[in-house]
Amino acid sequence: MSHDGLNIEAIRAQFPLLHQEVNGAPLVYLDSAATTQKPQCVIDAVTEYYTGYNSNVHRGAHSLADKATIAFEGARQKVSAFINSPKPEQVLWTRGTTEAINLVAHSWGNHNIAAGDIILVSELEHHANIVPWQILAEQKGAKVVPIPLTEQGDIDQNAFTALLTSDVKLLALSHVSNALGSVNPVKQMVAAAKAKGITTLLDGAQAVAHFKVDVQALGCDFYVFSGHKLFAPTGVGVLWGKEALLNSMPPYQGGGEMIDTVSFEGTTFNGLPFKFEAGTPHIEGVIGLGAAIDFLNSLDNEAVAQHEADLMDYIIKKAANFDGLKRIGEAKYQVGAFSFLLEGTHPSDVGMLLDQQGIAVRTGHHCAQPLMSRFNIPGTVRASLSIYNTRDDIDRLFAGLEKAKLFLL
Ligand code: ALA
Repeated sequence: MSHDGLNIEAIRAQFPLLHQEVNGAPLVYLDSAATTQKPQCVIDAVTEYYTGYNSNVHRGAHSLADKATIAFEGARQKVSAFINSPKPEQVLWTRGTTEAINLVAHSWGNHNIAAGDIILVSELEHHANIVPWQILAEQKGAKVVPIPLTEQGDIDQNAFTALLTSDVKLLALSHVSNALGSVNPVKQMVAAAKAKGITTLLDGAQAVAHFKVDVQALGCDFYVFSGHKLFAPTGVGVLWGKEALLNSMPPYQGGGEMIDTVSFEGTTFNGLPFKFEAGTPHIEGVIGLGAAIDFLNSLDNEAVAQHEADLMDYIIKKAANFDGLKRIGEAKYQVGAFSFLLEGTHPSDVGMLLDQQGIAVRTGHHCAQPLMSRFNIPGTVRASLSIYNTRDDIDRLFAGLEKAKLFLL
């Protein structure tokens, strides 16, 4: 049992990868913000698809194709319920968060952003929520404007209010920062933007695995996330959008499945969600994502959130007592990621020495270079937490850092 009553050993038992030695030591996996490990039920769902009913979806006139289609569309219904979408058709499959944002930039952006418009983001965004907007802005003569951060790593709400001018056409924000773990007050920020008629997109890549997301309660126009950070396979993700908005948008890619009729005189397009799903999709990824949702639904959400909060408190307290450790980002609410530097050392050296002790963290700029510039640092060491981590993992991290210090200083 963990300190908060969650049967953590039973959870860990479902993740085969965790039970191995790396570089001669039992693995401590603290890199779930990069990708989560997969429970056996997700691995089994993918294997069962390939060994039992591998077929294309929506197309076949045979039983295996029907079975694949039912599993594929069943996953859409599971995701829809998971994020409280009014309809499953509003859940569009993409390759991940990055493709979902690019889809919105191309399809919605091309038709709604004009010269002089402003796309408002924040300084803590992942490159995936900056670069697609910069490409769009460049094409349109629009501007991408960052909302500054406070010293703690929260979005400066006074600056946000001042920046919410009539030129702003889109507010695109991370729900949770991948580098700092800051949980942004997106509900109130979306409400402020919507009150001014501004379209809103939330990047939930680092949020969905940590707490309940309700797209209707958030009030946003678009919500995007990746499967692989939610215990599912890589290469699958979700773009959720408001129905009228998605209906108003032109297709992103042309091909099979997204059409109604095709002729050389002219082509008509399919309805939601297929209008945005050209070509054979990532079927096993979608089925795996459905299994990951089943896995999450089998857990007590409250207990999981409590467990993660306990781990975050524990790491923060240990860090405060660790000589030479500088915490980067002290947001009011922090989930998943904990970034730091060890005085007098380079993050990549620390990462390498931890790896030699079987401890996996990420080092570098975490695809958030503007955020690193904001703090005047080249990068950080990031330990990121998930439901299968324990206080023992954190103890091992700090023991590993003590050893790294001996070696580096
Ligand atoms: N965006 C992922 C991360 O933060 C890859 O590590």
